[in-house]
Amino acid sequence: MTGVICEQVGIEFPTAAGPLHVLKGVDFEAPAGQLTMLVGPSGCGKTTLISVIAGLLRGATGTVRVFDEEVTALRGTDLAPYRLRNIGFIFQQYNLLAGLTVAENAAVPLVAAGSSWEAALECSRTLLDKLGMGAHFGKLPGQLSGGQQQRVAIARALVHKPRLLLCDEPTAALDGKSGQAVMTLLRELAVHPDRAAIVVTHDPRVYGFADRVAHMEDGLLTKVEEGCSAAATAQH
Ligand SMILES: Nc1ncnc2c1ncn2[C@@H]1O[C@H](COP(=O)(O)OP(=O)(O)O)[C@@H](O)[C@H]1O
Ligand SMILES: [Mg+2]
Repeated sequence: MTGVICEQVGIEFPTAAGPLHVLKGVDFEAPAGQLTMLVGPSGCGKTTLISVIAGLLRGATGTVRVFDEEVTALRGTDLAPYRLRNIGFIFQQYNLLAGLTVAENAAVPLVAAGSSWEAALECSRTLLDKLGMGAHFGKLPGQLSGGQQQRVAIARALVHKPRLLLCDEPTAALDGKSGQAVMTLLRELAVHPDRAAIVVTHDPRVYGFADRVAHMEDGLLTKVEEGCSAAATAQH
């Protein structure tokens, strides 16, 4: 099992002032069985890179392979099935559906992949229960605190057992203690020999949860630190 391998990934966005080169030839790996953190200053291209890996953003040059599937070679119509098979994405703003309950929100990826609502809701409730959300199945996202909404977003990203979890700044809005709790949960739920996890952050308080920290600056990968995690080592 390989995980994620990016080679010379580039992308530019058209702007009024001309093309903006956001990724400039990124070489990056996130091996299976590990939690890889992608860190770097705001605006350096972290969200853009994980969006390319997720198949949410097209037009990149270079190659991205996710568990031996070449994402950069997929046609537009193949991207949604690719995401359903492989990707759990926790967005920075959670992106929950306001009209669906907690349990329904977390069940959506299974329904999209062809499960019945009944079966999907059963899996969704089991996972939400693990995340301490057992008392809130029937609530709407608007009735939850930010931390509770994040737990629903985590459940939705993991309910279909994706091979790759992508998580954008999970602790940015949290105090130190809640940040540690979320990272502990993500390690417990997402680190698995056949799966890979990438967590984007610029929160040095949580670097200790990584098996591997990849540093980005101005559209390029500048440094990779491996095995730097006391917390991770303790759980291996
Ligand atoms: N769709 C887009 N069009 C134009 N510029 C964009 C677009 N998406 C991102 N950018 C720019 O690309 C740069 C990197 O953005 P992003 O990947 O979100 O950075 P990070 O997540 O590291 O903070 C920023 O300068 C941002 O303004
Ligand atoms: Mg970002």
